[in-house]
Amino acid sequence: MEIMKEIDPLRLPRHIAIIMDGNGRWAESHTLGRIMGHRKGAESVRTVTRTCRRLGINCLTLYTFSVENWLRPEAEVRALMNLLLQYLEGELQEMMDQGIRLTAIGDLDALEVPVRKKLDETLEKTSGNKEMILNLAISYGGRDEIAMAAKRIVGDALAGKVAPEEISKDLFSTYLYTVGVPDPDLLIRTGGEYRVSNFLLYQMAYAEFYFTDILWPDFREADLLAAIVEYQRRERRFGMTSEQVGGR
Ligand code: IPE
Ligand code: IPE
Ligand code: MG
Repeated sequence: MEIMKEIDPLRLPRHIAIIMDGNGRWAESHTLGRIMGHRKGAESVRTVTRTCRRLGINCLTLYTFSVENWLRPEAEVRALMNLLLQYLEGELQEMMDQGIRLTAIGDLDALEVPVRKKLDETLEKTSGNKEMILNLAISYGGRDEIAMAAKRIVGDALAGKVAPEEISKDLFSTYLYTVGVPDPDLLIRTGGEYRVSNFLLYQMAYAEFYFTDILWPDFREADLLAAIVEYQRRERRFGMTSEQVGGR
């Protein structure tokens, strides 16, 4: 693939996070029900996971289901949960073959028992895999995560395990779901909306944002590579000057 040659293998994002949006609109444009859009979207998940693994990306976080998504019609929520279950069942072998470790962030206690069981089983079975982390955000909300972390840190403070003076941005981040995972370098949102929809609010402080109108079910390998090429064109300054970071 031509575009592959444009990618500098030494400057890959370590962590890519994706807001996979546009399944419903894709379905509508094909005069199909929304659920078919989600089903088709699962194929893009496979493609993107494989490509990230092949490129050597350390971590891929996929926004699979937000806390707000529980407010959708019951039939759609049920279908999304079934798709998740099918995905976990269907992809285990590939994860094992590819050395992919599955992790999950979000309010997992909100999941129904069969989904939770299958998820826990997959997390456990893949826990020794070392090639890449595939992190699914399920029943995830950024503000909810921050509030949860605050609650836990206060609990530890009251129990005398943390002194208030010790609370720093780094310590705080160890109370988040994403403990141990580096912050995302690149955030991709498909589906043409320009918002973060409560995704990884704390972790996104210095992520590079890439928005595309492509609907998630149409998102292919070349589209991911295009996002990485664009990422590599950016200069990440982290508050410093271009000169300081080795630019112009
Ligand atoms: C994203 O696609 C999938 C989930 C939020 C689970 P949408 O279902 O939001 O698709 P649109 O935005 O309605 O097109
Ligand atoms: C964000 O998409 C959540 C996921 C992709 C899982 P939504 O389609 O739910 O976002 P909003 O509500 O339009 O911002
Ligand atoms: Mg949407």
